[in-house]
Amino acid sequence: GLPLIPQLLHNNAENFAAMAARLEDLGYDHINWNIGCPAPMIVRKRRGSGLLPYPDAIVAFLEVVMPRLKARLSIKTRLGLQHNSEILALLPRLDDFPLLEITIHARLGKQLYRGTTDLEGFAACQGLTRHQLVYNGDITDIDVFNDLAGRFPTIQRWMIGRGALADPFLPAAIKGAAAIPLPEKQHKIMAFHDDLYSQYRERLFGPSHLLGRMKQLWAYLVAAFPNQDRLLKKINKVGSEEQYQKLMKDLR
Ligand SMILES: Cc1cc2nc3c(=O)[nH]c(=O)nc-3n(C[C@H](O)[C@H](O)[C@H](O)COP(=O)(O)O)c2cc1C
Repeated sequence: GLPLIPQLLHNNAENFAAMAARLEDLGYDHINWNIGCPAPMIVRKRRGSGLLPYPDAIVAFLEVVMPRLKARLSIKTRLGLQHNSEILALLPRLDDFPLLEITIHARLGKQLYRGTTDLEGFAACQGLTRHQLVYNGDITDIDVFNDLAGRFPTIQRWMIGRGALADPFLPAAIKGAAAIPLPEKQHKIMAFHDDLYSQYRERLFGPSHLLGRMKQLWAYLVAAFPNQDRLLKKINKVGSEEQYQKLMKDLR
């Protein structure tokens, strides 16, 4: 199976340590701390990217948590909440801790998912840490990846989020896999879809929950199918499982 890395969003070191101990009991040996989430409700509580203006609080948190952790810890973050001076102040102070890696989404929290990534802001991080940096943000196709890889030759690790949902074959293509013809891609996506749908059906309670999940996924998967906009509208209009299943049948 795929390695699974649980992620925690705490700002309270005691709670984090307790939850981490529980995860360790379950067998996880790598935990990720999210100090990048931009959701306003999270930020207001000084969690996620809401912590980035407070490097002292981040260091104090790690001083309590790290000695109690058996699992390895990595961090997922952004360039800052309001300004990239926040990450520049924080990174050197993280050198004191044995972190596995630091993934940086090259946006500010205040941007949410809007605007462009700040590649100069990411470049400025590079000389400021002894830790392995992972680049994240808007890797949507192989050309974008190649540009970034050329621009940041020392970066060895890359995180792809939405780009991999829209094109599940992108990570393999980046690793040099042969191109797959579109009909074969569609066939594989539908096989994945069917598997996911049947497993969600067993676990989720009620059709609106199930269809809601599938609609969220289709917002990305639709990119591999013709007439994307029309198809997505149709999917979003569906109100029952029967309608949904019929639409999926017609799509094949
Ligand atoms: C709907 C949505 C939910 C997300 N939830 C999380 C999350 O729980 N934890 C996290 O680290 N990042 C989360 N992210 C951020 C992504 O991990 C990633 O940093 C961001 O989308 C930029 O990368 P991308 O352009 O490759 O998608 C979320 C993004 C989206 C769009």
